[in-house]
Amino acid sequence: MAQVVIVTGGAGGIGSAICRGLAQDGMKVVLADFAEEAGNSLAEEIKRAGGEALFEKVDVGDKASVGRMVESALARCSQIDFLINGAGVMSRIPVQDMPEEEWDRIMRINLKGTFLCSQAVARRMVQRKAGRIVCVASGRGVAGQARAAHYAASKAGVIAFTKSLAMELAPHNVTVNAIAPGATDTPMSRAGVSSDEEWKKREAVPPLMGGLTTKEEIVGLIRYLLSEPAKYLTGQTFLLRTPR
Ligand SMILES: NC(=O)c1ccc[n+]([C@@H]2O[C@H](COP(=O)([O-])OP(=O)(O)OC[C@H]3O[C@@H](n4cnc5c(N)ncnc54)[C@H](O)[C@@H]3O)[C@@H](O)[C@H]2O)c1
Repeated sequence: MAQVVIVTGGAGGIGSAICRGLAQDGMKVVLADFAEEAGNSLAEEIKRAGGEALFEKVDVGDKASVGRMVESALARCSQIDFLINGAGVMSRIPVQDMPEEEWDRIMRINLKGTFLCSQAVARRMVQRKAGRIVCVASGRGVAGQARAAHYAASKAGVIAFTKSLAMELAPHNVTVNAIAPGATDTPMSRAGVSSDEEWKKREAVPPLMGGLTTKEEIVGLIRYLLSEPAKYLTGQTFLLRTPR
């Protein structure tokens, strides 16, 4: 039977690359996202290409919605081998101007969403004594980010959550790791750049000094974290590019 992976934020820029890559590897992909149209359309695309995929609508910040998504995924796939916590949002606002509601929105989706999805899936993984969870954090959670303190703090929270959950789940043969990409070419990062010229400047930075993370780098690392040789690797955060 194909291994089953839930990818939250699966319809987004990074999430869709993860879904396509893991489906190509023969996994059955549960694309869990708030964006219904984009999610259904990607699931269809994967199926047309010969892969296995299904869409589940979810708001990762809502416990009942996460519960329904996991139950439905289990009913349709009968097991969950892997969870990728990829759903995330960001905005650019200086702390002095930050509305409390915006702070709460970012924390709710990025940090609480990671907690709720991991909690729901971990219960099943512990019963089966097998599973892997990968959280998509960010280099900003390590380095900080001016005009996005809420985002950086949420991702630092994801990193600490990852380490803590890894300790709890290690006795149950479930690993939990985080990846921390640098700026990656997706709608999220493009939204913060005013012109093509500014984007080209970012691309021109030599990799060891930062530069852009590619989706291939992200998918390759996730493949490794879900592979047999990584079965004892847990509680780690992998920075894909040096944050500047
Ligand atoms: N793009 C970057 O430069 C970058 C760098 C480091 C980390 N990341 C992280 O990678 C992840 C994916 O980012 P991306 O650039 O692909 O962004 P994106 O905006 O393209 O995708 C994010 C996805 O999350 C979904 N989503 C948002 N709120 C949701 C909710 N409440 N419930 C379910 N799904 C929800 C969106 O519908 C979207 O499909 C995020 O966690 C982000 O913080 C991105």
